[in-house]
Amino acid sequence: MPAFSASAPGKSILFGEHAVVYGKPAIAVPVRQVQAKVIVTPKPKSQPGNIHIQAPAIGLDTDLLDLAPNHPLAVAIDLVLSHLKLSYAPGCNLRITSTIPLAAGMGSGAAVSVALIRAFSAYLGKPFPPEQVSALAYEVEKLYHGTPSGIDNTVVTYTKPIYFQRGQPIEILHLPASLTLVIGDTGIISPTAKAVGDVRQAWLADPGYYEGLFDEIGAIVQQARSALESGQLEKCGTLMDSNHALLCELDVSSPELNRLVETARKAGALGAKLSGGGRGGNMIALATAGEAVQISDQLLEVGAHRTIITQIGAQS
Ligand code: MEV
Repeated sequence: MPAFSASAPGKSILFGEHAVVYGKPAIAVPVRQVQAKVIVTPKPKSQPGNIHIQAPAIGLDTDLLDLAPNHPLAVAIDLVLSHLKLSYAPGCNLRITSTIPLAAGMGSGAAVSVALIRAFSAYLGKPFPPEQVSALAYEVEKLYHGTPSGIDNTVVTYTKPIYFQRGQPIEILHLPASLTLVIGDTGIISPTAKAVGDVRQAWLADPGYYEGLFDEIGAIVQQARSALESGQLEKCGTLMDSNHALLCELDVSSPELNRLVETARKAGALGAKLSGGGRGGNMIALATAGEAVQISDQLLEVGAHRTIITQIGAQS
């Protein structure tokens, strides 16, 4: 029997994180330079139901049976089996590798779930269509985030720039001009669940004020959509700056993120903002193609852990 493999990219949120959890729209893009990959290798001589999992990046080398039932990998496997009305799978080895930084706002959890659900359903002879892959990955996301909007599993499943609003059909964005993004990693681990939970507490304490901020972010996302679709990159940059200011008001930025954002702007970025859950993790800068390397160099100089330069084009 052959091996079955699937991969899924990282992601970056261009506009609208956090407010998207409260029903506002957001825009996200895939980042193909980083990937999660899952390979399912049949073990024909092993007991049915014997699934061995290796995930070297998180030091995991275990039988599924020894994994806590609420572990996200165990949940993803169970969801696939129960969807196919199977109580167990033929014995196999499942190897998970990923180059997506963990807890850094780049969708590593969603990408692992999507790659696993794709490879495992293919191994079982019923490769799931994208809507089903994304829906099951969303169930797993709830374990990571508590109250995820669903944007991460959607963008890494469809691997296209998307305009996303909870409960609405997803819209693929067609960009007339390619975007050059410089992604700067603070190197600070920041679980999305914590930042999302803190925003929720703040919102519960003062709903009127926070809903006002969410509305302002939602309005920026609408303007950003038209700017992106008409190739007005300078306008996009200005809107990124405004979105970052509102994320600071939501208290999800940090001195390290602000330093990288400021540095990118001084180095010639059209705009810059934190991206994802915030507090640590990554920021993004919109660059002209000629200035991307200079921006990346400056970010590294002021302490970025790593940078990625990525192009998002009409075909992305
Ligand atoms: C995480 O990538 C984006 C957040 O808006 C959370 C979510 O949408 O689930 C912070």
